[in-house]
Amino acid sequence: MSNNLITPDFRFRRLRRTSALRELVRETHLRMSDFILPIFIEEGINAPVAIKSMPDVYRYPESQLAEIVTRAWSKGIRAVLLFGVSTHKDEVGSDTWAQDGLLARMIRTAKNAQPDMLVISDNCFCEYTTHGHCGVTHKNDVDNDATLVNLQRQVVVAAQAGVDMIAPSGMMDGMISAIRQALDEAGFTHIPVMSYSTKFASAFYGPFRDAVDSTFKGTRNTYQMDFANAREALSESMQDEAEGADILMVKPGTAYLDILAHIRANSSRPLAVYHVSGEYAMIKAGAAAGVIDEKSIVLETMIAFKRAGADLIITYYAEKLADWIN
Ligand code: PBG
Repeated sequence: MSNNLITPDFRFRRLRRTSALRELVRETHLRMSDFILPIFIEEGINAPVAIKSMPDVYRYPESQLAEIVTRAWSKGIRAVLLFGVSTHKDEVGSDTWAQDGLLARMIRTAKNAQPDMLVISDNCFCEYTTHGHCGVTHKNDVDNDATLVNLQRQVVVAAQAGVDMIAPSGMMDGMISAIRQALDEAGFTHIPVMSYSTKFASAFYGPFRDAVDSTFKGTRNTYQMDFANAREALSESMQDEAEGADILMVKPGTAYLDILAHIRANSSRPLAVYHVSGEYAMIKAGAAAGVIDEKSIVLETMIAFKRAGADLIITYYAEKLADWIN
């Protein structure tokens, strides 16, 4: 015992001494190929509409989609996720499976603009129904199996329009089996499905709903998951894997890192995470208030997603990340 000096058993700080050493032992990295950019296209507008709580995010007119896709490509983005906001709404969302409906037109426009861009369609009904629910309603609730039939129609039309990947977000039971069967029967055995497999009923969707879904006053609690349930969260994703989902997903992200890690430990499929509108808005608001540093917080959040087990990240920050990473 030498005059009260304590000697640590091991010195972790040896590998933290210089930035070269820290980079050498860094376990998690970000690449542009990790990111998927969501794009919102709204019918009936002629100029981009700003989303108030989401600075730098817009709903674009259809006439600007080609330009947006080309700009994203030139920045290094290689995958986009298309959302349509329809003015041709009806009780069932039939525009989603119209041969010349908004969904089909968006896919064709995006693929024409940049044939090598991976074009993914968000496959749901909520932006195409008068009531705003994610499917056919019956007695104030969504009729699961009737919705599946329409979902089959929708994904076949999307595939015919040239989509590269289908991404069903409606949280209907059996949706992956139904989609796989419909795609295969129509000759699209090669088109992968990225399931919104574990999607929670979340207040983090608030800004998106304010901007896009303002007529919707209900809840999605009978189809989206209770955020209190971790075992069920795993079960939902494992069920989608069993039904043939090629990629699984957790949505939202930041508050659900435990769920990501849990699914990662139980599945070998690629895993995506959706960094949603509320997560984006909170960072923007915090940065605008001068209480956090935007770039550092975003990079830390993205690394956290990958560390927790995500392979892919869907984020409104994809274009900004291109500036920051390159
Ligand atoms: C609905 C849908 C949601 C989002 C996109 N499409 C969730 C919801 O309203 O339940 C949220 C996207 C976001 O918040 O970034 N299928």
